[in-house]
Amino acid sequence: MQSRELIIGASGLVGSALLQAAQASDAVVLGTYCHTKVDGLVPLDLCDRTAVRKILEEFRPDIVYVPAAIVNAEQVERDPVGTKAVNVDAVEALIDLLQGSNVHLVYFSSDYVFDGLHPPYKEDDVPHPVNEYGRQKVITETLIRERRPTSLILRPGVVYGLEHQGKNFAMRVLRELRAGRTMSVAMDQSNNPTYAPDLAEVSRELAAKRVSGLFHAVGPETLARFDFAREICSVFELPTTLLVPVPSSELRQGALRPKNVCLDTSALERIIGRKMLAPREGLTAMKRILPA
Ligand SMILES: NC(=O)c1ccc[n+]([C@@H]2O[C@H](COP(=O)([O-])OP(=O)(O)OC[C@H]3O[C@@H](n4cnc5c(N)ncnc54)[C@H](OP(=O)(O)O)[C@@H]3O)[C@@H](O)[C@H]2O)c1
Repeated sequence: MQSRELIIGASGLVGSALLQAAQASDAVVLGTYCHTKVDGLVPLDLCDRTAVRKILEEFRPDIVYVPAAIVNAEQVERDPVGTKAVNVDAVEALIDLLQGSNVHLVYFSSDYVFDGLHPPYKEDDVPHPVNEYGRQKVITETLIRERRPTSLILRPGVVYGLEHQGKNFAMRVLRELRAGRTMSVAMDQSNNPTYAPDLAEVSRELAAKRVSGLFHAVGPETLARFDFAREICSVFELPTTLLVPVPSSELRQGALRPKNVCLDTSALERIIGRKMLAPREGLTAMKRILPA
């Protein structure tokens, strides 16, 4: 039987990769946007409980993916109450609405649940976030694990790939350097770059098997942000001379960042039988589909 898949937040980076993967399969798929109108998607504010109930009743999904979130760490730091309404409370309301159904919930958390001081991190290491975005992720993970333990929770790292808004790190590096502008990049923030279409494929594979629990879902290499930028230049044949390595303190980011959130992915690899794509592999795949 065809699987019915609802993607809440299909206008974003991860959501659009999920949508594309689902559309290429035989699934019946419905994707939503909130502020960024995209053809083919339906509007939905996750905070609108009545609208969420209606879409669940009408579409009757087997799987609900929730990449929807306010992801900008600075915005979350500035407005902890307003962003909690989306990142925590709306997900809790969704759990309430799913009660009594056997819908498989797939939620995306983050490597920012850790403080980055004691890498590598396994799934059961105790979270200790350094910013409000990470704190909201920890609260939501805990809610889901307690109230809907059949759910799948994935923790990606810095996600990159093609997207409508072009705001992810790889797209920004390409935009700045192609325009001949310099770009200051942190040399003291490390994590595991994660290619969005690969994350989508892994998420769908696990969801199809109805895998439950919490998994790290990142690429196999831990790179300082500056080294990731250099890898982007190497694959896209851009000069690295416009990249300026700086300590995080010089970036004046409104939210603290963890230093090194290298994630152990062996639990995921035991299930999918492979490592996720390394930066060079993901960037090469991205280059093939990126309009010049
Ligand atoms: N990007 C990363 O590097 C990264 C790293 C680790 C974890 N993650 C996690 O992965 C997930 C997906 O991230 P992403 O990079 O795809 O984020 P994104 O590109 O910013 O997309 C976020 C999505 O959430 C939707 N959204 C925002 N507020 C909403 C609301 N009130 N109701 C319904 N939808 C709403 C957005 O819709 P509109 O744009 O239409 O408003 C968009 O579709 C997030 O949970 C994020 O925390 C991301």
